Amino acid sequence: MSEKCSATKRGEYWATVRANKQIGERFYRLGLEFSGAGAEAFARVQAGQFAELDLSSAALPSAETIPQELVDAAGRKILLRRPFSFADVDTRDDRTLVDILYCVVGPATLRMTTLAAGGSVSVIGPLGNGFRVPDGKKTALLAAGGMGAGPLQHLAKILTADFPQIDAVAFAGAKTAEELPFERRLDKIAQQLEFSLPEFARYGVRSLVATDDGSAGFAGPVTDCFSEWLGKSDLAGESMVIYSCGPEQMLARVAEIAKTRNIDCQVSMERRMACGIGICQSCAVECRVADSAETVYKLCCEDGPVFDSKEVVF
Ligand SMILES: Cc1cc2nc3c(=O)[nH]c(=O)nc-3n(C[C@H](O)[C@H](O)[C@H](O)COP(=O)(O)OP(=O)(O)OC[C@H]3O[C@@H](n4cnc5c(N)ncnc54)[C@H](O)[C@@H]3O)c2cc1C
Ligand code: FES
Repeated sequence: MSEKCSATKRGEYWATVRANKQIGERFYRLGLEFSGAGAEAFARVQAGQFAELDLSSAALPSAETIPQELVDAAGRKILLRRPFSFADVDTRDDRTLVDILYCVVGPATLRMTTLAAGGSVSVIGPLGNGFRVPDGKKTALLAAGGMGAGPLQHLAKILTADFPQIDAVAFAGAKTAEELPFERRLDKIAQQLEFSLPEFARYGVRSLVATDDGSAGFAGPVTDCFSEWLGKSDLAGESMVIYSCGPEQMLARVAEIAKTRNIDCQVSMERRMACGIGICQSCAVECRVADSAETVYKLCCEDGPVFDSKEVVF
């Protein structure tokens, strides 16, 4: 993890569904279990890596439960696999258990809600690279927007287990409290103590919440909350590393803050992905070439999804 992710045995594996729990109006946590070669392949998956799930044969939920704005899209055939990252990875005996935090936004994620315990799903992975921990860092700042919280929960777990010398603080934002993809509601005292989200607190990681409408935590964009926290901190820029995952506009702002304060920063980019394995070229990310005014296009699925924020042209 301290440098680029190690080689993983990527392939197509079948996973058994352990659970598929609804945790919010549109949010679910899907638990999958791999055995055999799949268990081996996913056991060492890095935070930020992802997998492509085949949801083409999953059933649609009953018509009355389909949100009005997805009714038209619901009937579309799912021709392509969909990319998802991991919120947790655990090994038990010879099995690997992974959790995926997902939001229902279209036909594939709608069908995903009907995956039931005992069922199975085809998964290609692990894919892409993961977050890296540069040498000499003392503080890691995890900035999540919306569904970006998933891979950062996984990262919080890895930092706590493998890098105990690093103190981590998480920042999680959404438009409203209802749109925060976490299981339990926020408690004021926990918020004041900066341990408000159990998903991070379980790893001893403090967390601050921000909502655009002020319905929970800091009132305003999570990047303002993040910037305010940094403004009050006397930590040296070189001792910190920022990890961010969320909407592109938010990543651009985080990259700007990191640049101003001279802090290393890694961002997990999202692109529509047709293949996930570097063939279709549909996931280009414009990147700067070091010491040059030129730019090149890199592939989000193969060169990313995690990029150095200085590299990305937002
Ligand atoms: C590396 C990676 C990791 C991801 N991890 C997760 C995760 O952990 N949890 C999760 O809920 N989602 C994750 N996503 C996004 C997820 O893949 C999409 O939400 C999913 O494909 C939607 O499928 P759908 O058929 O339900 O909706 P679609 O009809 O495919 O999309 C619904 C709407 O969302 C937009 N959209 C879909 N995918 C993207 C994208 N990649 N970038 C920008 N806009 C998009 C579409 O333009 C459309 O407006 C990840 C994406 C990437 C690239
Ligand atoms: S998704 Fe096909 S090349 Fe990246």
